[in-house]
Amino acid sequence: MTPSDVKATLSFSDGSPSMELPIYKGTIGPDVIDIRKLYAQTGKFTYDPGFLSTASCNSTITYIDGDKGELLYRGYPIEQLAEKCDFLETCYLLLNGELPNQSQRTAFNQLVTHHTMVNEQMQFFLRGFRRDAHPMAIMTGLVGAMSAFYHDSTDVHNPQHREISAIRLIAKMPTLVAMAYKYNVGQPYVYPKNDLSYAGNFMRMMFATPCEEYQQNDVLVRAMDRIFILHADHEQNASTSTVRLCGSSGTNPFAAIAAGVACLWGPAHGGANEAALNMLEDVQKMGGVEKIGEFIRQVKEKNSTVRLMGFGHRVYKNYDPRAKLMRETCHEVLDALGLHDDPIFKLAMALEKIALEDEYFVARKLYPNVDFYSGIVQRAIGIPVSLFTAVFALARTVGWIAQLNEMIGDPEYKIGRPRQLFSGAAPRNVKPISERA
Ligand code: CMC
Repeated sequence: MTPSDVKATLSFSDGSPSMELPIYKGTIGPDVIDIRKLYAQTGKFTYDPGFLSTASCNSTITYIDGDKGELLYRGYPIEQLAEKCDFLETCYLLLNGELPNQSQRTAFNQLVTHHTMVNEQMQFFLRGFRRDAHPMAIMTGLVGAMSAFYHDSTDVHNPQHREISAIRLIAKMPTLVAMAYKYNVGQPYVYPKNDLSYAGNFMRMMFATPCEEYQQNDVLVRAMDRIFILHADHEQNASTSTVRLCGSSGTNPFAAIAAGVACLWGPAHGGANEAALNMLEDVQKMGGVEKIGEFIRQVKEKNSTVRLMGFGHRVYKNYDPRAKLMRETCHEVLDALGLHDDPIFKLAMALEKIALEDEYFVARKLYPNVDFYSGIVQRAIGIPVSLFTAVFALARTVGWIAQLNEMIGDPEYKIGRPRQLFSGAAPRNVKPISERA
């Protein structure tokens, strides 16, 4: 951290001594005020629910400029990575800080590829779930259960354990997501095939059956790979912060990543892609394009709980750069599959146009986010809506691991332990039950 020449001074109106707070500069982005000694020196905490003004860590992985609509992984613009790299190169970059050269790329691909199979016992564990269980419920269980299968890589303080658990998680997530899907639909599991690309292998495990080999469509495989790249990391979002907080206790990497999966499930976060598609299907049932006006009115009503899912972002107050790329991919996929006339896709395009022009959304800087388009792309590819968030979890796993490993390797790392403003009852005595109101 680079100290700034500028210092902040915190003063109090009751005459208590003021306090000087150091400021640090990042490479880019806002400076931070270091409040670590605040409690020791003043007996006061800061109050910032939802972390609106709090940098929870010092990181070198991902940078977002929400006003400019900019996203960088290790300094590289997401647009360049999406155009020039594949997902495994992106994984290498996030984990190691640099893009691989040719021989590093080959070695990394081989390493990941040779860990794609999961312990055969996993399928018996999977059988304990109801067939209609939500895939994210299954994924939370399966990822957590990995710590019971891979005992030799559970010590988060051992760099070799961290390395092998990272590879295992990245390699096995597609296998587990596809297994969760096959279990849902009652089809036999398809084992990984190691001469395929990461995305191609995932799609084959999803869609092949013993009776019919899956014919790979390159446009769709590229689209899937792009979904993975765009979702790979997003700095200190809710699930990543969950992984860091969970991992800060020294728990094993599989348990920490399972916590991230659980957090991602929520509709305000990764669950938004599923929620956006469900919303489109609801509007379609209401009457489709004709009823968009009525639906938008419901969203805008004061105190309405209806949100336009797939719109808005805590950090992006400009177009989400991932959404721009996903929109492009969306059109490529719709063209390749001849789906431009599908009513849900037509509805999505009409909704996007109206929302981008409507004063309510413009004034609040609510633009479509990546999940609005990734849901449409996934649906077109044939991924069932309930599996969308599991695909997001698959892609985000590398980001979670990179962030977890960065935290554990940070000499300033401590268990995460926020404090609170207590506004409950002051101390009082327990009355005998006969005297209680
Ligand atoms: N539809 C309608 N109104 C909205 C929406 C929306 N999607 N998002 C925000 N608003 C309004 C909100 O009602 C508020 O209006 P007002 O000032 O009149 O009270 C204003 O915009 C600010 O909203 P906020 O809730 O304070 O904003 P936030 O930064 O806390 O929320 C968000 C960010 C992503 C949770 C929210 O925009 C949202 O719920 N969006 C829909 C869910 C979604 O698509 N999430 C995916 C995010 S991208 C993928 C990921 O990173 O996981």
